[in-house]
Amino acid sequence: MKLFLYLLLGFFLVMAIAIISGAHNISATEKHWSITEKTIDWIRESLIEVHAKNLTVPQLDDRNVLSNGFKHYHEMCTECHLAPGLEVTEVSMGLYPQPPVFHEQAPVTEQAIRSDTIRKYFWVIKNGLKMTGMPAWGLSHDDQSMWSMAAFVVKLHGMSAAEYENLVRTTEADHSHHHGHDEHSHHHDHSH
Ligand code: HEC
Repeated sequence: MKLFLYLLLGFFLVMAIAIISGAHNISATEKHWSITEKTIDWIRESLIEVHAKNLTVPQLDDRNVLSNGFKHYHEMCTECHLAPGLEVTEVSMGLYPQPPVFHEQAPVTEQAIRSDTIRKYFWVIKNGLKMTGMPAWGLSHDDQSMWSMAAFVVKLHGMSAAEYENLVRTTEADHSHHHGHDEHSHHHDHSH
C-alpha cells in the first residue's frame, strides 16, 4: 500500500515537473506521440460506440438526405471537414486533432455498417467532441435534421468532385427558383 502511494506521488511529481518546465507542450502544432494518439483514438471510438449503440436510426428519405443533409453540410461543415473539389481551408489546416475528410474515406456499402456509422455520426454531430473543435449541433438543430446530416456524411464517403458539384448546382437552382419568381416580378414592376 505504501509503495503504491509513493509511486502515485512520484507520478504526479513527474507530471508537475513536465508541465512547469514546459517539457510538455499544449500547442496545436506539436503532435502527440503515436502511442498517445492511438490511445485517444481508441478511447474516443469506444465512448462514441457506447453512447450511440442504443439509438434507433429513423426511416431516412434519400431525397431529403441529399437536399437537407447536403445543405446543412455545405453551409456549416466544409470549413473544417472540406468537400470534394473544394480548396483546403485555413481553419482545417490549423486544427489538431485534424477533422476527418469524409470524401477521402472508403464508401460504406454494407447496410449494417451503414446504420452503425450513421448512428455514431448522429451522436457526434448532436453532442460534439470535447477538446477537439467539433461543435455540438444539438443545441441549435432538431434530431431530424441531424439524422439527415449524419446520413449525408456517410454518403459523402468516396464522393467525387463532379457529384458534389452537381448537388451544389441542384440546390442553387432550387433556391433561384423559389426566390427568383418574386424578384423577377419586382423587377418588372419597377421597369414598367
Ligand atoms: C470547427 C471545426 C469543425 C466544424 C465546423 C465541424 N466539425 Fe466535425 N469534427 C471536427 C474535428 C476536429 C473532429 C475530429 C475530432 C477527433 O479526431 O477526435 C470532428 C469530428 C466529426 C465527426 C466524427 C467522425 C468520426 O469518424 O468519428 C463527425 C461525424 C463530424 N465531425 C461531423 C460534422 C458535421 C456534420 C459538421 C457540420 C454540421 C461538422 N462536423 C462541423 C471539427 C469540426
